[in-house]
Amino acid sequence: MNFSEIAKTELHLHLEGAAPPAFIRRLAQEKNVNMDGVFDENGAYVWTSFVEFLATYERACEVLKTPEDFGRLMGAVLEEQARHGVVYTEHFLAPDFCGGGDLGAWKEYLAAMTEAAKTSSVEARFVSTCVRHMGPEQAKITAMVSAETAGGLLTGFGMGGDESQFTAADFAYAFDMAREAGLGLTSHAGEVEGPDSVRETLDALKVDRIGHGVRSIEDPALVQRLADEGVVLEVCPGSNISLGVFPDLKAHSISRLRESGVVVTVSTDDPPYFHTDMTAEYRDLSEQLGWTQDDFDAINQAAMKAAFCDEATRSKLMAKFNGA
Ligand code: ADE
Ligand code: ZN
Repeated sequence: MNFSEIAKTELHLHLEGAAPPAFIRRLAQEKNVNMDGVFDENGAYVWTSFVEFLATYERACEVLKTPEDFGRLMGAVLEEQARHGVVYTEHFLAPDFCGGGDLGAWKEYLAAMTEAAKTSSVEARFVSTCVRHMGPEQAKITAMVSAETAGGLLTGFGMGGDESQFTAADFAYAFDMAREAGLGLTSHAGEVEGPDSVRETLDALKVDRIGHGVRSIEDPALVQRLADEGVVLEVCPGSNISLGVFPDLKAHSISRLRESGVVVTVSTDDPPYFHTDMTAEYRDLSEQLGWTQDDFDAINQAAMKAAFCDEATRSKLMAKFNGA
């Protein structure tokens, strides 16, 4: 199999987290921003724990200042995804890094990213995300600007950040506002925290999909619930292994979840931070877990079914995942 050529969907990709280190370094030089401690001697992002990863990520985001910066980044990331066979993607975008929650500013960032996405061969939709450790009040502001700009390419709302902070219920108001605006809902849970976090997220936020959810495997009753309710997991195996959630792919829960009837999809999360890309993810699933073209078709069909897009786009792209 030529793994880069397999047509792919990628539902879980943080735009800022997909910024190549060289892109960030170039902007830092242009803008004279100090990046000490962000890169190692080989030019890779530096972090040794989940909390440090989030801190490095936010430092790198400091150079992304203008709508043009985000437009350039959107173009570069979509081009890279196209090289790996991605035909449909959803990008997580944090309004907190795009004007800090100011609606007028966010509209300008969104316009620049939309313009860049519309010229790409990859079909893209946007999921605006609140950052959990910034707290529920900030999340409400994020939800409000998202609700005001829902439509066009902005079709989803989600939450990333430090899962150990606050409770899921603290964010119910924000998610209710986004739901009322017609946005599809997803939240990170069961990545660094266990099954209780997934259960609380489902109960309090009534999301359509869960970002990661891979630690659900620790609770058979929760696994059964995910299967029964058809909750879609945005699984990012390389990210989970890099962050130490599982030691390697053979120990990863993705196969056991699938065998239990849970709907899984595959994405990269923040590829340069985790030294991965979609080609590597598919190659590893094939070589280490024996996945075939049929398995790839199944996860991509599941992803298109769960995609936050209109029906015409869904059926057009679904045709690419029929084993051809
Ligand atoms: N933001 C970017 N990547 C993330 C991850 N893997 N978990 C939580 N928040 C994130
Ligand atoms: Zn993520």
